[in-house]
Formats: sequence, C-alpha cells, structure tokens
Amino acid sequence: MSERRIGIVMNGVTGRMGRNQHLMNSIAAIRKDGGLPLADGTRLVPDPILVGRDKDRIAAVAKAAGVEKWTTDFDAALGDKDYEIYFDGVTTTARAGNLKRAIAAGKHIYTEKPISVGYEEAESIYREARAKNIKHGVVADKLWAPGMYKLRQLVKSGFFGKVLMVRIEGCYWVFEGDLQPPQRPSWNYKKAEGGGMILDMMPHYFYMLEAMGGRPLDVVCSADTLVKKRWDEKGKPYNADADDSLMSISRLTNGAMAQIMSSWCVRVRTEDIIVMQVDGTDGSAVAGLNHCYTQRRENTPKGQWSLDVAEPLDFYRDWQKVPEVEPYKNAFRIQWELFLKHVVEGGDFPWNLRAGAQGVQFAEAAEKSWKERRWIDLPDLKG
Ligand SMILES: NC(=O)c1ccc[n+]([C@@H]2O[C@H](COP(=O)([O-])OP(=O)(O)OC[C@H]3O[C@@H](n4cnc5c(N)ncnc54)[C@H](O)[C@@H]3O)[C@@H](O)[C@H]2O)c1
Repeated sequence: MSERRIGIVMNGVTGRMGRNQHLMNSIAAIRKDGGLPLADGTRLVPDPILVGRDKDRIAAVAKAAGVEKWTTDFDAALGDKDYEIYFDGVTTTARAGNLKRAIAAGKHIYTEKPISVGYEEAESIYREARAKNIKHGVVADKLWAPGMYKLRQLVKSGFFGKVLMVRIEGCYWVFEGDLQPPQRPSWNYKKAEGGGMILDMMPHYFYMLEAMGGRPLDVVCSADTLVKKRWDEKGKPYNADADDSLMSISRLTNGAMAQIMSSWCVRVRTEDIIVMQVDGTDGSAVAGLNHCYTQRRENTPKGQWSLDVAEPLDFYRDWQKVPEVEPYKNAFRIQWELFLKHVVEGGDFPWNLRAGAQGVQFAEAAEKSWKERRWIDLPDLKG
C-alpha cells in the first residue's frame, strides 16, 4: 500500500487543547495507526513540526508525542514549503495575527475557535483565505461528540418534522482554584487576555444551532461575571473580570426559537455538561455529549398542572435512548480526518473560516446586545 506524507505546522501544542486533543488524540493517534486511509487506498501520514516559544517545553511535548521535529522559529516553519497546513491552537488573542501570517505564506489553515476576537478581523481573515485559494477549516468538535452526532442524524432523517424550539444548556462549576485546582486556564477569566464565556462558547453554539437546521438571525443576550475572585495556576488570587455566565435568545432561519444558557458557575444535575433539547412537531430529542433520547409525537404523555396531587407521571419514562450503531472516535480526530481528506481529495468542508467568522459575529453581537441592552441582527456573511 502506498503512503503519502502531509506536513503540518502545529502551533499551541504546549497548551491544553493543542496538546491533548489536536496533537495526542488526533495527529499522533493517526500516525500511530499508520496514517489515514484515502479513497484510492493510499495512506496519508501526517508529519508535524511543532512550534513553541519555550525550547524545553516544546521538545518535551514532541518527545511525548513521538514527533521528531520541533522549532521555536515560527517564521522559518511558515516559510518551509514542505509543510502545507498550518494549525493554530494558541491563546485566543494571538490567533488572528498568526492566521494572517500563515495565509500570506500560502498554507492551508486548520484552527481552533474563535478565529479572532472581533468580527471585522474574522471577516478579513476569511476574505484573505479566499483570495489565496487555500483550504481552511475551523474546529467544530461538538458536532462529533456521540450525543450531538446522534441528534444531527435525527435532523437528517426528518425525525422532528418542523423544528419549533432549540434549547442549549452548557453549564458546570469551574473551581475557583483555592480549594481544588481549576479545570481551565486563568486567562479564560480575564477580559484583557481574551477570556469570557461569550467569546469562548458562542462560536460553538453558533454551529450547534446551525446543525439543527437554522442559522441564528438575531440575538438578545445578558451576561455577567458571577464569580469575581479566582486563583491562578500558581495559586495566586486574581480578580476575574470576564463574563462567566450568559443567557441568550435567538430566532433561527428555520423559524425556530433558540435559547442558550451557559455558565461556569452552575452545578450539574442534568444529563451532561452540555445538553441540547430540540422540540419539533413530530418529536423531541435531548442530547448530552454522549447520549441522546427521543420522544415521538405518539409517545408524548399527557402532562397536567396540579398543585393538589403529587405528579403521578415519571417524565423520564417515555423517552427512548438512541442506540450506538457505530463506533465513535475522538470528536477532534474525526474532524481532523475530514479536513485532511478535504485538503488532499477535495470535496466540501462546511466548517471553514466563513463558518468561523459567523461564530465570532454571533459572539460579538451577543456582547453588544448585553452592553446596549437590545436585540442585534446577524446579517449573513456574503460570498
Ligand atoms: N474546541 C474546544 O472545545 C476548545 C476548548 C477550550 C479552548 N479552546 C480554544 O483553544 C485555544 C487554547 O485554549 P487552551 O485552553 O488550550 O489554552 P492554554 O492556555 O492551555 O494554551 C494556550 C497555548 O497558547 C500558547 N500561547 C499563549 N500565549 C501566546 C502568544 N502570545 N503567542 C503564541 N503562543 C501563545 C501557550 O504557550 C499554549 O501553548 C483558545 O483559543 C480556546 O478558545 C477550544
């Protein structure tokens, strides 16, 4: 069987997402499996060069991943024609500049979200990529989490009839850092460093809503910083000033109403950390990251209000679990594989910089709505 090498400049792999999801669970895992089988039987073998600012840290990550090449010279890596793809998983504020440099160098782009801090810049990144005629992709990992994937299959099968309402709850408690180590980096809670729930999560929620059949047309949002004191990676206290909680409402292009509630200051007593419920004329479904449950029109129990009698119905009873019918791989790896195939074999890849720019537009509009206390429209991105 023949092999084809594909060079990838990977930046940000000393970080949480870059290292765990993109390097270890995706690129290193594909290499370990001997490459990605293509339609013509060739195996596509990713050959990454890791870029970092600290020599010792990047060398240690390369060693752990079984990767031979690493560098601290970002420009030299971008200038090396042996590497066709640039991956960016660095901290949010550094992303836009990196993407623009990589596009100018003619690399195909695969990047974490958000693609920039503001919409104007996001749109210009998309336009520059189009002008260079390169391939581009933006992480939309939630779509391949097993529960969300099952939900998308339900949309595809026409299960819902007309979608009426979509509700997303993405909530869990992120430790402050004094009692237990925090699960997320401290920059997430500092506005000046690109932190905040709106900028972090609205790009995800944009593509999750779109996958239910309708892009958001508008948004009204309120947000707040509920936990104001946190402790950083070194145990030092700091003032958290980035929004850590949001509530928003949108109208989708398919006519459905959408509601998002997202917080790092809520304790979980639901199906999962992210739960999406879709109600349609023919049926409803609730999905967490892993599982998905449906209730058809014919199975809908008769609920009634009564303050006099304890509710006799178990509302969980009439939901059916969607079975596992295929093995699920890591969601980041699945999207990486689709992107690599898109680069070498062509075909559609809708989770691109255009979609990434729309995700930033959604975040920016939500922030504006909150600050100005009004509805904001989301015009479609032209081109
Ligand atoms: N897809 C998802 O589910 C998901 C989840 C969390 C975070 N993210 C995104 O991934 C990105 C990284 O988040 P993280 O949690 O891994 O953060 P992190 O702090 O763990 O990692 C940040 C990385 O960027 C590097 N970096 C920091 N400042 C830099 C600079 N000025 N120039 C170059 N490199 C710099 C760090 O060395 C590190 O490698 C963020 O943009 C975030 O929005 C995505």
